[in-house]
This record gives sequence, C-alpha cells and structure tokens, in this order.
Amino acid sequence: MLVNGRDTRSIRLAEPPREAPVPEIIDQTRLPHELRFVLLETLDDAERSIREMWVRGAPLIGVTAAYGMALAARTDPSTSGLESAARRLSDTRPTAVNLEWALSAMVEKLRPLPPADREAVAFEHAAALADTDVAACQAIGLHGSEVLEKLVPSGAPAERLQILTHCNAGWLATVDWGTALAPVYRAHRAGLPLHVWVSETRPRNQGAGLTAWELGEEGIPHTVIPDNASGHLLRTGRVDVVIAGTDRTTSAGDVCNKIGTYLKAVAAHDCGVPFYAAVPGSSIDWKLGEGEAESIPIEERDGSEVSEVRGLAPDGRMTSVRITPAGCRVANFGFDVTPARLVTGLITERGVCVASREGLASLFPDRASGKDARG
Ligand code: MRU
Repeated sequence: MLVNGRDTRSIRLAEPPREAPVPEIIDQTRLPHELRFVLLETLDDAERSIREMWVRGAPLIGVTAAYGMALAARTDPSTSGLESAARRLSDTRPTAVNLEWALSAMVEKLRPLPPADREAVAFEHAAALADTDVAACQAIGLHGSEVLEKLVPSGAPAERLQILTHCNAGWLATVDWGTALAPVYRAHRAGLPLHVWVSETRPRNQGAGLTAWELGEEGIPHTVIPDNASGHLLRTGRVDVVIAGTDRTTSAGDVCNKIGTYLKAVAAHDCGVPFYAAVPGSSIDWKLGEGEAESIPIEERDGSEVSEVRGLAPDGRMTSVRITPAGCRVANFGFDVTPARLVTGLITERGVCVASREGLASLFPDRASGKDARG
C-alpha cells in the first residue's frame, strides 16, 4: 500500500539486488515516528525481528519466518540445521498459527532436496508464500468490500459507513493490503464514503501507531479512540460494523486475536452491530475443533509493556515513561478468544461464511479433513 504516495510492501528483497538475496523489513517499533528499513542478513536477525516485534501480525510473522529459513539454509543447509532453525523460529511467538504453517511449508519443500539446492529453493518458496499472502489479502479485500457496500444504510448513501477496528490488521501485519483493512482500502478506492474508528490497542498501541499511520498514508478518514471508548460508540449507534483480524481461527470458527477483541465482539453483539473477522486460510488451525479454543497458546509478554508507555519525546527521541507505581504487579496477555457465536461472519480469500465448522468447511473442503494443520 501507499507510503509517501509510493507502493510499499512490509517485507521485500533489498534493492539493488546483492550477490545473494537479503530480505528487508520495516522496523515497526519505530512507526509512526520514523520509517526505517532493516536488513535481515542472518537467521538470528529474522528470529530477533519476530521476537522483538519489528515485524508483527500473523501473516507477516509467517513470511518473515520463511525468509528466516532461507537465511538458515545459506549457512547450514543440512536437514538437522533446517530443523533446528525451524524450532528457533517457532519459539519466537506462540499464538499466530501462520508461523507454524509457514515453517512446515518450508521444511516440507526443502527436506527432499539435496542440501546444495536448498538455499535457492528456499528463497523462491519464501517469495511464493509472500505472493500467496498478497493474493489472499486482495481477495479478502474484494469479498469484504462487498460486505461493506451492503451495510451502507439505505437512503443515506452520502453518509460515511462507520467501521470500528482493533489492533493492526492492515498491510503492516501482512505483506500487503492487510486482512481486516483490505476491505476498507478496496471500498475506499472504489469511492465508498467511510470512516474508521481505530482503537489504540494498549499496551503496544498497534492501533494508535500503525493502523492510524497506514490509514493516513492512504488518505482514509479515521479517528483514534482509547480502547475503552468502543462500547460507548457501539451503544450510541456510531458504529455500523466491526472488523478485526485473527491470529488463529479454530475450525469451529472461534477467533483468537489481539487482546480486547472479545470485549468489542460482546459489545457489538449486545448492540446488534455486525462483527466480522478477516481470516486468511493460513490463519485457520484445522487441528482445533469445537470447544478446543482454550488450547490456543496465549502469548504473555513482558510486563514493562503495561507499566510503561513508549512514544516520541518533545526532543524527538523515542522514549518510555512509567505509568504504574514502581514495582507494581502487572499482567500482559497478548490475545483473547472471541467465540464463534459472537461472530457474524468470516471473510476469507474464498468468500464469506458463517463462523462454524460447516461454514469454513464449505469454503475449504480440501483442508477441512481435520488432519492437515497447515490450512
Ligand atoms: O501482537 P501483534 O501485533 O502481532 O498482533 C497482531 C494482531 O492481533 C492482528 O490482528 C492479527 O495478527 C491479524 S493480522 C492480519
């Protein structure tokens, strides 16, 4: 999507081409204050970039890990080297299933090959996974924008459709376009008048920092709100639809996404406002069925993300300030589960379905056997 009016991806190969390809990412911890591209030259770099959230968002974590495997194949293309790289990358963040999906796709592709061929094929396959992600997000944009068009109040086509989103499920969370924001981008480019309420998403503020930045670059009207304002907006009729992303969706349609998503879904349900999740196939965990969402590993991150707030100081430096009493106990759960019963529909690259086993199986009959976790 656009940055300073130029099409940009969240991960790409560095230009001009080097002797050996080097992936390049945006250090998202510095946004919205600074747009800094960082080279990933080693497996260590890839591992660190995911763990420290220079890259984040389920699909982008998966693609970065795929490039991490390619970098690992450059220094140790042996089977044991690849398996150890996959283990290290898989330990970085536990909740997004896309990580597991991308790593097993890479290992499956590389294992049968002679070690000398593995690096080149790994780079090709990582690029193919990135392109597949872009295609999936574009298709989600198409199907989701049809949902948005139908929600425009009849008789009031000139009024802006009011959309509430949480965290960042835009192009920064994927390779391009995003999941929850892809329908917004597509509808906006097609001329649908809309406005996005962006919840700030404490503790890391992916909404306030990343979503607001993305939407601003695309010229989309938006307003940042504190997380706890959503209920008020929903109850007073100022939201027409909620769209969120997902880090892991069970085959029964339960959606695990950034902490705070569940509360929005509860409030939307109470207020009769539709709540959609944008779900690429790579985010579906077919191993988890009815009643099994509780076994999704919920990431718990460092308490300093809660006790401190990070931002730009008046002197232009990035800094953190403490907001809790010194030594105060804090808890920092990264994700929560929204049960399928609160989800109006799942917007996938293959169309929109009811949040249920039957709904997902109708769109993904080839993957719904329950045995293939890769989706
Ligand atoms: O902790 P993060 O920033 O990686 O969490 C991101 C989210 O929760 C997104 O909503 C999710 O990954 C879907 S991204 C298209």
